[in-house]
Amino acid sequence: MRNNQPVTQKEYKFPTHHRLISTTDKRGVIQHCNQEFVEASGYSREELIGKNHNLIRHPDMPAPVFKEMWRTLESGKCWLGIVKNRRKNGDHYWVSAFVTPVYDKGSIVGYESVRVPAFADEISRAASIYERLQSGKSAVSFAQRAIHGLERTWPSLTIGSLLTLSLGFTTGMLPAIMSLVAFGVLVVVQDIKSRNEWGKVTATRLLHKPISQMQRTLPRQSW
Ligand SMILES: Cc1cc2nc3c(=O)[nH]c(=O)nc-3n(C[C@H](O)[C@H](O)[C@H](O)COP(=O)(O)O)c2cc1C
Repeated sequence: MRNNQPVTQKEYKFPTHHRLISTTDKRGVIQHCNQEFVEASGYSREELIGKNHNLIRHPDMPAPVFKEMWRTLESGKCWLGIVKNRRKNGDHYWVSAFVTPVYDKGSIVGYESVRVPAFADEISRAASIYERLQSGKSAVSFAQRAIHGLERTWPSLTIGSLLTLSLGFTTGMLPAIMSLVAFGVLVVVQDIKSRNEWGKVTATRLLHKPISQMQRTLPRQSW
């Protein structure tokens, strides 16, 4: 894992209409990049071409984000995520990146990334998730997970409680207890299912926007 230093924690804002574009080979070695990418990076084109993309890696970026990115790309899918990149002088710039595999005759021959400036809310969400990941915590807090669990299981919880109460009042304790146990099992199964899904929600997926939403939020200009 490359640790580029020094870092200033000073943010560099690049113009909102800029599209930072780079293409790489299958190992992530930069083959081409546009002038806007060169300017944002602070390196010269000569310093960038032929280097691995980790040249601009910021040390605040957690390794699992890139692991997830590579897993997605190598499986032939596109990856969307918020990335903090380091400039040559140690400043940083946040991008919303859209990375795609490039195919030739049906096989992946490289990758391409198009980046736009990330929005303020995306940056603050990403910064807090990445900080948690860097300090060895899960991407989301216990409270967030609990809320997520409740969102998934509240219909069963409500129906189960009402049924149990009404059975308790009308037919007695035994059917009420049986109903309580049945709904308890249902809620636990739903919760486990939801937790499994939640577990798969990595930092980057949390930050993803559907492509349609991303395109809507981009200034109207062709890439
Ligand atoms: C098309 C493409 C674009 C990439 N863009 C970036 C980027 O903007 N910033 C970055 O840190 N890594 C980027 N990467 C990932 C790097 O290749 C590398 O996996 C990452 O910086 C972590 O490197 P390390 O684990 O070797 O330190 C990109 C990879 C590809 C294939």
